Amino acid sequence: MMASISIKNITKDFPVGDEVIRVLNNVSAEIQKGELTMLVGPSGCGKTTLISIISGIMSATEGQIILDDYHLSKMSDTQNVLFRRKNIGFIFQQYNLLPALTASENAAMPLLAAGVLEKEAVDSASKILEQIGMAGHTEKLPSQLSGGQQQRVAIARALVHNPKLIVCDEPTAALDAKSGQAVMQILRDIATQKDRTVLIVTHDNRIFHFADRVLEMSDGRIIGSYSGESFMKKGGA
Ligand SMILES: Nc1ncnc2c1ncn2[C@@H]1O[C@H](COP(=O)(O)OP(=O)(O)O)[C@@H](O)[C@H]1O
Ligand SMILES: [Mg+2]
Repeated sequence: MMASISIKNITKDFPVGDEVIRVLNNVSAEIQKGELTMLVGPSGCGKTTLISIISGIMSATEGQIILDDYHLSKMSDTQNVLFRRKNIGFIFQQYNLLPALTASENAAMPLLAAGVLEKEAVDSASKILEQIGMAGHTEKLPSQLSGGQQQRVAIARALVHNPKLIVCDEPTAALDAKSGQAVMQILRDIATQKDRTVLIVTHDNRIFHFADRVLEMSDGRIIGSYSGESFMKKGGA
């Protein structure tokens, strides 16, 4: 199977005062299409930094990210923004919802940015929100929603434009078990489509069984790659 994300020798240094901290140290991995890959490891090991670089939100100090056949580092900033907007859905730890827009309007943003008519965009967003337990909340403002409900708006916003790559940072962290399973089932179904790729950073041992592949990180490196099944057998991270 062709790799959908090729991570080649990525190094990331952050300047801190007079010093430089190496947060990612020569990370290489291949992430396959049609699979749900989880990235696990202790807090501070570099997971968020790595997915930010994969998503093109942050640049690497050294190394290459190739998405399908697209070299992110060879694109201009404008090409990069347009490519990401069309092809990547993000669910980050901070939801970044717009306070003056309803849940449906927030979730519809990627479609509105792509020029879809407002009614059609908001209808599509409402449908996804309803699938993840948000029926009855689609007209509410973020300030009227709980943390878990806001997280589901961020999840719907990441899915609404059918992106090829979905990248999620701890998507189930603020959710109860039932909503967490519903969200994972949606991500699982998306990943099963052959041209889709789902990459999830997580600590949540309640969802490990949804993984096709698990990449284990420690201290800025990938230290293991397991099938979902063998990761469960070994007893998780
Ligand atoms: N902008 C930054 N400047 C300096 N250090 C950073 C910055 N962002 C992250 N770090 C450091 O990089 C390390 C990895 O962070 P992160 O990728 O957020 O880890 P994780 O998501 O695995 O918890 C941590 O030690 C963190 O303090
Ligand atoms: Mg993190």
